[in-house]
Amino acid sequence: MKIADTIEALRAELSALRSSGKTVGLVPTMGALHDGHASLVRRSVEENGATVVSVFVNPTQFNDTTDLAKYPRTLEADCRLLEACGATLVFTPSVSEMYPEPDTRNFSFAPLDTVMEGAFRPGHFNGVCQIVSKLFDAVRPDRAYFGEKDFQQLAVVRAMTRQLDYPIEVIGCPIVREADGLAMSSRNTRLSASEREIALNISRTLFKSRNFAVSHTVGATLEMVRTAIADTPGLRLEYFQIVDGDTLQPIANWEDTSRAVGCVAVFCGDVRLIDNIKYSN
Ligand code: PAF
Repeated sequence: MKIADTIEALRAELSALRSSGKTVGLVPTMGALHDGHASLVRRSVEENGATVVSVFVNPTQFNDTTDLAKYPRTLEADCRLLEACGATLVFTPSVSEMYPEPDTRNFSFAPLDTVMEGAFRPGHFNGVCQIVSKLFDAVRPDRAYFGEKDFQQLAVVRAMTRQLDYPIEVIGCPIVREADGLAMSSRNTRLSASEREIALNISRTLFKSRNFAVSHTVGATLEMVRTAIADTPGLRLEYFQIVDGDTLQPIANWEDTSRAVGCVAVFCGDVRLIDNIKYSN
């Protein structure tokens, strides 16, 4: 496995790989890798001749400077995991490499990026689109892999890829959960043992709501989840929405969509966690 920390070095490695006829998969990450990331990397390794993994904590997508400062950085452990997964090349640029000058581009994919995370984290998806478009331009992958835990991010990246005509297949991969149900997230390492116990109520409530939804309306299901989370000491609900999986707009009735998804954002202590559940199969 090679490591490149400049775009020039990355391109030199990529042109060698391409001249030997290899297709390229890209897995963009912010590091602090876990089994969720590993599943994306393994899928890319299966489907492409070469897999590039970017590890870059992108400052432009953080609307909260404390969150940025506290974001875990574990490059050595990340490289060990990536090597074990069969990654070909790790791209670890500095901030000045990716942003030699401030990125003044504005992306808008309304209404996809104005609801939920877009409403609570102003500028977040603009920053995500800035960095993902730069990574797409630098790597020019055949395929790019994103986790469905960031369900809205996947929809926004798909819209950007379509609208900017990137010849890249964007592939969404299922959420990976801990054995007890907690959705894997780099932010989980910031939870204390007791907070982690409390955070389990998020996935438990989502799983419960899937059974509840079979015999209840959308409104009753919203109420059930919101109340369960709001009533759990130590959790602070930011939002829970049931939306159409393509448009991300709230639905009023189950019949309104064949792809209903419940998306939640919750603070556990000062750690913000997101999760989602599909109501239709
Ligand atoms: O999902 C993430 O970790 C980040 O938003 C991404 C896609 C790597 C862009 O910085």
